[in-house]
Parts: sequence; structure tokens; C-alpha cells
Amino acid sequence: MILFDRVSFSYGLCPILDGLSFSIGAQERVAVLGGSGEGKTTILKLIMGLIKPDSGAILVDGEDITIKCEAHLREVRMKFSLVFQEGALFDSLSVKENVAFCLREYTKMSEEEIDGRVRELLRVVGMEHALERMPDELSGGMHRRVAIARSLAAYDPLMFLYDEPTSGLDPISADMICRLILELAGGRRGLIMVTHKVSDALKVADRFMFLKAGRVLFDGDRERLVRSTLPEIRMFMRELECLSPAE
Ligand SMILES: Nc1ncnc2c1ncn2[C@@H]1O[C@H](COP(=O)(O)OP(=O)(O)O)[C@@H](O)[C@H]1O
Ligand SMILES: [Mg+2]
Repeated sequence: MILFDRVSFSYGLCPILDGLSFSIGAQERVAVLGGSGEGKTTILKLIMGLIKPDSGAILVDGEDITIKCEAHLREVRMKFSLVFQEGALFDSLSVKENVAFCLREYTKMSEEEIDGRVRELLRVVGMEHALERMPDELSGGMHRRVAIARSLAAYDPLMFLYDEPTSGLDPISADMICRLILELAGGRRGLIMVTHKVSDALKVADRFMFLKAGRVLFDGDRERLVRSTLPEIRMFMRELECLSPAE
């Protein structure tokens, strides 16, 4: 469903991606790992057509989105649900209004239909009890769940994109978010989760891509990841060693 063919991207003179190539099928569950500043968020923005590469092609369902106009890109974006890093909510709107916002913006639903759909979405993420709360009254994990409900509001995506969905959360909330991510994907929809937390990546994905210096340093399944002897990967895996009980 997604193909990057020798994609290069820089912010001004600062190169971020350097001839990056990979492909991801519509039903795959992929974790994109890498240190901060390696271009993980940039990849999600490129997939959504929010920014354009300096060179190379990005195909979504066989169409090169780098040469599409804004109207066409809107259709491409509808195929994905993207939850941004920090999953920012509108501070001045209640939980209910935050989710309703997209429905008002992108659909022609009546107020009654919107109300029903908002309740349904908040039920999916286990937040139906907090309809009237304001964002600053929510814990980090609850905040993230509402952001996920909002990303699902207007349509039924083919694939989910998550940018660091568990960053800044305590381990229990992070675990709940991982379970929610898996539940939403079900057996038939794919997802890409960008993260620097290997432990969360292992809960959600079965394919792991590791970014380094603008390229894919590693691409493989769980077994290959765990066994990798690449020093960069070993450094990331140390997070897991810290978590497992001392022998
Ligand atoms: N709008 C921007 N303008 C200039 N530099 C940026 C911008 N956004 C990100 N960067 C820089 O590009 C690099 C890659 O960013 P990003 O894709 O957000 O990395 P990651 O998500 O892996 O932490 C970082 O060094 C970041 O500081
Ligand atoms: Mg990022």
C-alpha cells in the first residue's frame, strides 16, 4: 500500500532522509524505530502528503502522491488515521466537543447523529464517562485515548498511523494504549507506529524498521530484531534488559 522509492528530504540545508526505500502492505503492523531527530515524524508527514520529498517517489496504492494536487491528496489522507505526537486536543473544548469537531468539519451529519457517533467513538476507547471533561482534567493516557477517538471520527481508515503514541505515559497507560491500538486494527487493518520505545513496539508490531542517518538500518521480524548484533539495535534493546527482572 505504501512504497518509498529512494526518497530524500531535507529541512533547508539539513538532510533528514537520504534515499530511503521501503514498502509496507495494507495489513502489516510495522514499528518504525530510531533515535530522536532521525526523521520518524517526517516519514509520517510524507505518507500523508503534508510535505513533499526533494527527490524520489512515494506511492500510495500505486499512485505517486508527490505529484498530486491538494484535492487529490485529501482523498489519499482519508485512507489513513493519523494520531500526532502528544495527540494535542483543543484546550478550550470538552472531550465531547473535541471529537465532534472533525465530524462537523468533514461530514454533513446532523447534531443528533454527531452526538451518537461521538458517544460510540468514546466508548470504543473507554472514555464515554468523560464526555464533559476538559482536556486539562485528563491524565496523559486519557488524553491520548481521546486523541485516538478524534482521529477515528470522520471516516473508517484503511491504515492507522501513530506518532509516539505512548511517549510520556506511565507503563500501565502505555500498555492500555498499545492494546487499544491492536484492538482498533483488528486482524484486517494495518498500522505504522513510530516510537523510540522497543517494549511498546514489540507489543504492537510484527515487523520492525530501524532508521539511522536517513536510511533503513534494519528491517525484520521480532526474532531477527531480538537477535540482531547491530550496536545501534543492541543499544535500543537495552531498554528491555532494564525492564526484565534481574537474574
Ligand atoms: N519544520 C522543521 N523545520 C526544520 N527542521 C525540522 C522541522 N521539523 C523537524 N525538523 C528537524 O528534522 C529532524 C527530523 O525530525 P523528525 O522527523 O521530527 O524526527 P523524529 O520524529 O525521528 O524525532 C530533527 O532534527 C528536527 O529537529
Ligand atoms: Mg517525532
